[in-house]
Amino acid sequence: MKINYHRWIEAQKFEFHDWNTLPKLTNLEWQEIYYKYSPLFSKLQTRLKLTPQKKIIDVGCGPTCISRLLPTGRRFGVDPLAKKLKLTRAYSDIKIYQGRGEDLPFPANYFDLAICRNVIDHTYQPQKVITEISRVLKPSSHFIFAGYVYNPFIAFTKNLGEKFNLLRNIGHPHTYTLKSFKDLIRPDFEIKKVWLIHEGRHPNDFGKINEKPGSLSLPYRLILSANRLLGQKWFVREYCLLCHKRQ
Ligand SMILES: C[S@@+](CC[C@H](N)C(=O)[O-])C[C@H]1O[C@@H](n2cnc3c(N)ncnc32)[C@H](O)[C@@H]1O
Repeated sequence: MKINYHRWIEAQKFEFHDWNTLPKLTNLEWQEIYYKYSPLFSKLQTRLKLTPQKKIIDVGCGPTCISRLLPTGRRFGVDPLAKKLKLTRAYSDIKIYQGRGEDLPFPANYFDLAICRNVIDHTYQPQKVITEISRVLKPSSHFIFAGYVYNPFIAFTKNLGEKFNLLRNIGHPHTYTLKSFKDLIRPDFEIKKVWLIHEGRHPNDFGKINEKPGSLSLPYRLILSANRLLGQKWFVREYCLLCHKRQ
């Protein structure tokens, strides 16, 4: 779904507020990333034959920088909030740039690996971000694409809510199903492997550290009941896709 630029700015203000004001958020998010991804990334380090010379780009790295799970390689990060969150000098071994995924500040065919986790549903023009990632990657290199997707009924209600400004999720202008998540990257990448990282059964279950079910609003409870009536046992899932740049 297309959104206007002001909608994206609104989402980014929300994002900045969270990272900037919630105590220990970066630490908690890092623990979550570590718990969810460290075994997989150890395997990928070997599978992708990463060496210290390989250049890795983490698009929408945020303060957490999932590329920290790969101890080998020259790591770069890009984030539109890099300056505001003072990320440019946050890590001595990762060079973080201010920038957007839609317009990456790097030449074509520059990187050996790209990573983009929990970012695409936050962006202004998701398709353009994927095309840019493909542009900066060398031929035949890999892309680790991860994020949250919703079951089709929930995605439908969320997209409807976004369109008609009802029950909107301010920080997330876009909502994907697994199919639409895959379709986004198919023009530029071939999907080699898909891992289910987490299955969330209610609207607060994203596999976060110290996450509590909390109370749900009436509309959400109705949506959940309808979801169950449709025979769906899950609400949100986190997937990680290993992709190969098309020739
Ligand atoms: C939920 S955070 C995820 C950060 C990190 N990747 C992680 O997994 O913890 C989403 C990040 O996407 C960034 N973002 C939003 N729009 C973007 C865009 N158009 N291009 C690149 N990054 C973007 C935000 O600034 C934010 O840091």
